[in-house]
Amino acid sequence: MVKFGVVGYGYWGPNIVRNLCQLEEVEVVAVCDKSPASRRRVEKAHPDVRVTADFAELMSSPDIDAIAVITPVWTHYELAKTALEHGKHVFVEKPFTSNTAQAEELIDIAARKNLKIMVDHTFLFTGAVQKIKRLLQEDALGKLYYYDSTRVNLGLFQHDVNVIWDLAPHDLSIIDHLIDETPEAVVATGQSHVNGHEDVAFITLYFPNKVIAHINVNWMSPVKVRTTLIGGEKKMLVWNDLEVDEKIKIYDKGVHITSREGVYNLLVNYRSGDMWAPKVEQVEALRSELKYFVDCIMTDQIPFNDGNAGLRVVKMLEAANESLRRRGQLVYFAPQGAATPSPARAIPAGTGTAIEA
Ligand SMILES: NC(=O)c1ccc[n+]([C@@H]2O[C@H](COP(=O)([O-])OP(=O)(O)OC[C@H]3O[C@@H](n4cnc5c(N)ncnc54)[C@H](O)[C@@H]3O)[C@@H](O)[C@H]2O)c1
Repeated sequence: MVKFGVVGYGYWGPNIVRNLCQLEEVEVVAVCDKSPASRRRVEKAHPDVRVTADFAELMSSPDIDAIAVITPVWTHYELAKTALEHGKHVFVEKPFTSNTAQAEELIDIAARKNLKIMVDHTFLFTGAVQKIKRLLQEDALGKLYYYDSTRVNLGLFQHDVNVIWDLAPHDLSIIDHLIDETPEAVVATGQSHVNGHEDVAFITLYFPNKVIAHINVNWMSPVKVRTTLIGGEKKMLVWNDLEVDEKIKIYDKGVHITSREGVYNLLVNYRSGDMWAPKVEQVEALRSELKYFVDCIMTDQIPFNDGNAGLRVVKMLEAANESLRRRGQLVYFAPQGAATPSPARAIPAGTGTAIEA
């Protein structure tokens, strides 16, 4: 049995509490929220759960093993750090922290105290992403060419972060999970129109071996779109997350180049074969993810979406934000292990900027 305290019961918190309450090996001991209206909603939905405005009450409670941090991004670090220092495992919302230094510190504390960190990268637990991962592992698409995602809708405007920090963590965590390589560089452009935070942004990530990823995130779209194209040498797929039944469609389409008389006489052959829609599991991703977190605690495993996965996403967000601030300047990730300055002191290097990856 793992006993939970949850902090934050705004928009996303109720989904966490509901799913935790449905897990057999879990007891939700207490929910903390500063807002009286949120506390009233907890009392109504979960009359058996203790409700408090004081996070310290969760910390001093010896019967709480793990804390779920479901509050705005800028509060994640303080709350997660306090919880780890009190010997509690933490489940932290995406994005993990506001910067890499905070993420690294939390990872260190957890390692020292032998505690688990899981970052809520919910999409990794969807049937669609799990299917795409298997297709890539089985080499069904062939050599990967590109990942191109459109994640747009009207709102919800966030007060503390721009659209990159709000919506792009989903794609960045999926990219981190699907693409085995570390990105080399990023370009991001965007614009703020309403509340001082960018509400429209376009991010391009360059990977080794000519793999490219593009993400379009937008809070100002008249329609909701959740469509990702993934192109490979052998096959291509379209993942439309708004489709109820056929979320993924795989196309046996591609191009084949042959050269008959040197490079100036290229022959491009187009292949247009069948399309099929594979079966995709329909279980609620958050439930599978929280069950996995509980299993990791009970069996002392390190989750694959641990603090390090959260840190990798934060590094990509920081680099994208840096590029955005410089109106689309290319920002390089330094090779892993290289001695480079921290992102806060990124150095302009000719046409780009180096950021520690
Ligand atoms: N995984 C997903 O798909 C997904 C979806 C939506 C939001 N999120 C993430 O969830 C987090 C919360 O987002 P939201 O939309 O629910 O925000 P929200 O503003 O609707 O709710 C946050 C709640 O936290 C409370 N709170 C803030 N600071 C607190 C503190 N120090 N102590 C106690 N209570 C505190 C607020 O009163 C509020 O009720 C964000 O990190 C966001 O990125 C994730």
